[in-house]
Amino acid sequence: MPGPMYAARMASTDPRLIPLLDTSKRPEPKVLPHPLGGERYTSRDFMEREWERVWTRVWQIGCLESELTETGDFVTHEIGRESLIFARHTNGEIRGFYNVCQHRGNRLVPEERGRSGAFVCPYHGWVWQTDGELRKVQDEEDFPESPCGRLSLTPVRVETWAGFVWFNLDPDAGPLMEFLDPVARQMDTYRMQDMVRTGYTTVEVDCNWKVIQDNFSESYHIPTVHPGLKYFLDDTYQSTQFDLYERGHTRMIMVGGGPSERAHGNEELILRGLREELEGWGLDPESFRGRLGDMRAELQRQKRKLSGERGYDFSHYVDEQLTDHLHYTVFPNLAFSMKPEGCIFLRPNPHPTDPEKCLFDCWYFTLFPEGDDTSRVQQTDGVWSTSREPAAHSKGLLGEVPLGAGISEDASVFISQQQGLRSRAFGGATLAGQERRIAYYHQVIDEYLDGSRG
Ligand code: FES
Ligand SMILES: [Fe+2]
Repeated sequence: MPGPMYAARMASTDPRLIPLLDTSKRPEPKVLPHPLGGERYTSRDFMEREWERVWTRVWQIGCLESELTETGDFVTHEIGRESLIFARHTNGEIRGFYNVCQHRGNRLVPEERGRSGAFVCPYHGWVWQTDGELRKVQDEEDFPESPCGRLSLTPVRVETWAGFVWFNLDPDAGPLMEFLDPVARQMDTYRMQDMVRTGYTTVEVDCNWKVIQDNFSESYHIPTVHPGLKYFLDDTYQSTQFDLYERGHTRMIMVGGGPSERAHGNEELILRGLREELEGWGLDPESFRGRLGDMRAELQRQKRKLSGERGYDFSHYVDEQLTDHLHYTVFPNLAFSMKPEGCIFLRPNPHPTDPEKCLFDCWYFTLFPEGDDTSRVQQTDGVWSTSREPAAHSKGLLGEVPLGAGISEDASVFISQQQGLRSRAFGGATLAGQERRIAYYHQVIDEYLDGSRG
């Protein structure tokens, strides 16, 4: 089982802090070999079955709570063929609805966001309240019986957690916290609700959504697609801990704050790779010449030591959270990497009609130090932020809008893989052990499809 080296390095963890984040390796659910045939990525029938049995039954993120601070604030969200509205009602509650006027079906709210006391349908002007009730219709007396008081928008289940508004299209779904177990408990050690979304991009990509989720479910591609990463993180599977959880979510912990053996001790490039972070925390990269192995522990100590004066509270993080790369997937299509000062959330959503396209969200979040309105802050590896303002939504085709250097490297293979998956020559995947997070979530998809789950 990969990961023993990670467990060995954990021995240095401060025991007082261990209960905060459980980094232990759990027994894994059984993962069967999966053929991963190309038709899962190309077939309309498969896409249709996924819509009916997966997308309409899982908890997903609709928007941020911080987008709905005032009464009447609303955000619309597209998922597959549906559009949804999330709104802050006058009683303070967040409500969710299908974005469908119940008069003759027009999409009710065309805007992505706004603030309004009611939703007025652009077609015939029916007025819907932010609790979904129909308030007013044109020529009310012309109806055999007034629809006001009888009709309402179709509601969607909503819950909030970690600063996000989550929704589920299944009215009978279990609670969100049950669905997210045990990832929610682990994520609670970060202060997601205090982070600002400092990067917000959606690109349309000519590939099935699972091409992207597969990519973010393995690190096997790092040496080839991200050759620079080996200088500041350990990209070998032997050092990496992989965790598979019962509900289809997964975790991967990669050792950071030092190089991979693939870097072959290339001191120049290793020190260059970590220079910005070391200097940012007041450490001299040159002082680590000849003792690269000390960097990780010293960086952890230094971050903890300086965190208070820098406006951070790292007391709730275990040492590993200060340097290592904790990467999660939440079934079916969310992937995120957590660092103490920020994180990145990646989400390929299914296209409304085409199985060979998807809409890929890329969100950066930054935890700004308290009392400091000017410093640039590393929101995630190699991406820095200076503005405390939430980012505007940038949209386009892949290649038209920037995704950040690391994600652009990932994106370079999305379309070429889809091209191969649709070829008659592709006979199915052959997965390495370290790619079993992929096999696992596809297995969970199949269980949703055959009705044994969800
Ligand atoms: S479809 Fe909305 S008012 Fe007619
Ligand atoms: Fe990658």
